[in-house]
Amino acid sequence: MDKKELTKRLNEDLAGELGAIIQYLTYAAKATGPYRPQLAQFFLAEVADEQLHAQYLANKIVALGGEPATVPRPVPPAKNNREMLQAVLEAERKATADYTQRARDAEAFGDKGLAVQLEDMVRDESGHSEETERILRDWPV
Ligand SMILES: [Fe+2]
Ligand SMILES: [Fe+2]
Repeated sequence: MDKKELTKRLNEDLAGELGAIIQYLTYAAKATGPYRPQLAQFFLAEVADEQLHAQYLANKIVALGGEPATVPRPVPPAKNNREMLQAVLEAERKATADYTQRARDAEAFGDKGLAVQLEDMVRDESGHSEETERILRDWPV
């Protein structure tokens, strides 16, 4: 794992975080029905976490001599609460898998601090996906 490849992969992760911020902001606005207050609050609460992840990644990419991505990963379309929650679950599972791999990449590159931070992010993202999975578990049809 060389610096160039690691930076490229971290930039893909950063694009994912920028997309997650937009996804949660948009879904919070789009939530409807009797669960709107809780759903909007749930989505907005995630924005803060994803912003911290994005900030960390942007700083690390610059530290590695790279240029941080500014183009977000596209937000999946979703036309109701259930579809939004399913899209969120999918994105959070992908983030968990990506950071699990990225922590290994950081170890291979020899940056222990980055590996530890990415493992913290695995914990954050798996927490997000577990919470979303529990909301969806008894979601009315
Ligand atoms: Fe994140
Ligand atoms: Fe997340």
